[in-house]
Amino acid sequence: MNNWKHKVYKRREEALASGKPIRILGIETSCDETSAAVIENGNTIRSNVISSQIESHKRFGGVVPEVASRHHVENITLIIDQALREANLTLDDIDAIAVTYGPGLVGALLVGVAAAKAISFARGIPLVGVHHIAGHIYANRFVKELEFPLLALVVSGGHTELVYMKEHGAYEIIGQTRDDAVGEAYDKVARSLGLPYPGGPHIDQLAHEGEPSIPLPRAWLEGTYDFSFSGLKSAVLNTLHNAAQRGESIEPKNLAASFQESVIEVLVDKTFRLINERPVKQLLLAGGVAANKGLRRALSERAAREGVELIIPPLSLCTDNAAMIAGAGYIEYKKGNLASMTLNGVPGLPLA
Ligand code: KG4
Ligand code: ZN
Repeated sequence: MNNWKHKVYKRREEALASGKPIRILGIETSCDETSAAVIENGNTIRSNVISSQIESHKRFGGVVPEVASRHHVENITLIIDQALREANLTLDDIDAIAVTYGPGLVGALLVGVAAAKAISFARGIPLVGVHHIAGHIYANRFVKELEFPLLALVVSGGHTELVYMKEHGAYEIIGQTRDDAVGEAYDKVARSLGLPYPGGPHIDQLAHEGEPSIPLPRAWLEGTYDFSFSGLKSAVLNTLHNAAQRGESIEPKNLAASFQESVIEVLVDKTFRLINERPVKQLLLAGGVAANKGLRRALSERAAREGVELIIPPLSLCTDNAAMIAGAGYIEYKKGNLASMTLNGVPGLPLA
């Protein structure tokens, strides 16, 4: 074991001294995507293979953890091979392996972590553990070099956070949701409208066809940068129930538009309130809900008006992928934060 540790630290030093691009194999299995990628210097994609399990989970209306783990086990080695092949590289060319070790579903995380540890141990390749949300934030570095201080608005299926960063790899959570994450609220509202899982993109689409004509609440939680979306979600469900009881019909597209307007108004407004208090060089959008057309547009308009530089990842890097994990892993690798063979999946891993 000590021999392995000696080997990986030596390998890192030699790679950094060589001046050649640092090539990282990223692995992501925290939820329902099995993904592997090969990235150079944390910001250049050589390959990014994503195998989605959505079709398997759809009929259950959400992710079934045991089903997710089983799919990861079946796919992980194939996906890693494919990522290397598409990059025209072999494991001999890889300088480090970066893997998501939390937060996420424990059985799902373990598959990626076990694969990463096995390759690292067998080949003496440095190992880096990555926080899933750090990965989402670093998806933005594929677009442009990050400048600090910056603020990241993280909106995903499991997270809604305002994260302030003074330097690479240092995360300060200024505000977060007290109940549902944004993506979770989207998925629940979609379900109540009979839309398939995951519902976010369907609501987004419907919202663009409808009018925000139905009054819905906004939870401002004044004096804090926290969020709350469960009241809004309940208001949508109540609107549907009340209409059904009265025998009235509600236009789903108008309900979707009203829901989306309420979500976006709060997210954008609180983000810019914080920027006015703590000026930043860049605003980053991160997480699966960053794919939302309405949110992208509203943030872009407001950022342009207020003269703030906004970075948004391309759609392909918004939802879960291994490229972003390798991107965040590169920062930890440079800092010398290598993991050991005790690395484990941590479902509730804190970001800061
Ligand atoms: O980041 P992600 O892939 O997984 C987590 O880390 O949670 O985010 C998935 C979430 C789902 O809730 C999905 O409905 C939502 O992102 N999502 C969207 C859109 N595309 C994906 N929500 C709203 N509008 C979209 N266009
Ligand atoms: Zn995610």
